[in-house]
Amino acid sequence: MTIRFLTSGESHGEKLNAIIEGIPYGYELDFDFINNELASRQKGVGRGNRMNIEKDKIKITSGVRFSVTTASPIAIELQNKDWKNWIYPMSIEKINFFEIDKNLQDTIKEKIKEKKITKLRPAHADLAGILKYGFDDIRYILERSSARETATRVAVGAICQNILKFYNITFNSKIISIGECDDEKRFQEYIESFKKKGESLGGVVQITVKNSPAGLGSFTHWDRRLDGKLAQALMSIPAVKSVEIGLGKDYAKYSGFKSHDEIFEENGKYYHKTNNSGGIEGGMSNGEDIVLTIAMKPIPTMKKALNSVEIKTHKKTKAHFERADICAVEACGVVAKNMSAIIILDAFLDKFGRDCKKDIDLAFKNYQKRTNEI
Ligand SMILES: Cc1cc2nc3c(=O)[nH]c(=O)nc-3n(C[C@H](O)[C@H](O)[C@H](O)COP(=O)(O)O)c2cc1C
Repeated sequence: MTIRFLTSGESHGEKLNAIIEGIPYGYELDFDFINNELASRQKGVGRGNRMNIEKDKIKITSGVRFSVTTASPIAIELQNKDWKNWIYPMSIEKINFFEIDKNLQDTIKEKIKEKKITKLRPAHADLAGILKYGFDDIRYILERSSARETATRVAVGAICQNILKFYNITFNSKIISIGECDDEKRFQEYIESFKKKGESLGGVVQITVKNSPAGLGSFTHWDRRLDGKLAQALMSIPAVKSVEIGLGKDYAKYSGFKSHDEIFEENGKYYHKTNNSGGIEGGMSNGEDIVLTIAMKPIPTMKKALNSVEIKTHKKTKAHFERADICAVEACGVVAKNMSAIIILDAFLDKFGRDCKKDIDLAFKNYQKRTNEI
């Protein structure tokens, strides 16, 4: 079994939900920690006004008793405070449509028709989405493809981080660059200058996982490789366009002698002096820090709109604009950290057991003892 999770919810729907399966019994959850992670996804220079409205706080409705995980599926809810401002353009079921007065039903239907979005947004899911599903209103696509969904991923990942903290495994994210600026003291003014132009930015973030034991993942089959799993999880974050492990694409520039990490041993302890592999060799963690670097493309929705097409008339138009971030690289780092935590916890439980904390603690201790004796 693996950790599985499903999310549901639209950007301006009533709430976001997630169900996580595969969390063992016996872990005390730290709700302040989880809510802090949610709050840090909402921060960063360049975020849109939506962040002033939403104050994400986790609500757990099953799978936890007296703050301790029970091994049953955990259900999570996050309210969209902004929902009330979006009842008309949003999906009608959200207000128990069939329970309301017939006249009001008709008024709502008319209002929704007026508010159809028909101007395709380049660099979004819009074009492929209307072709694939045959929608006549881009709102169907916008609502679910929106990165608002990443709030639920952060809630799930924060629970996984919470559990890994019991084993001293921690996660950190750091912005390496925003657009062409790599001076962290200048990030704010750099972003502000693009905001003035009605433009947007992307950037590069590095995730570091500390104190991971060696041996998570496996070389024995393609879909058990830890690097492959992390890459899939990180690439699934909206707007992430590359994932690198350790030296990543720079490996191609150097010779084997200049790039590979040599192995040393002292008093029975193996170690490397360098970490170009980013802590993963042969699809397994090797005991060094796991270092992952992701690149996020610039936010597609911009005040200075791109050229596009209107789907009713097929006429040239400017892209639809709806309130957007200018730069969400910091938030993307928080999402990436938490997606990494889901994958690392899953690999950790693969190695040490999936049922209860007591068994897992013992297995972890025994493994540390055995590997110290090799
Ligand atoms: C944390 C975060 C916030 C984002 N905010 C916005 C936004 O406000 N406006 C926007 O157009 N895109 C935003 N994006 C990016 C889009 O969701 C993404 O580019 C789009 O869904 C298309 O997917 P793709 O870039 O993976 O092809 C955000 C992404 C992340 C990770």
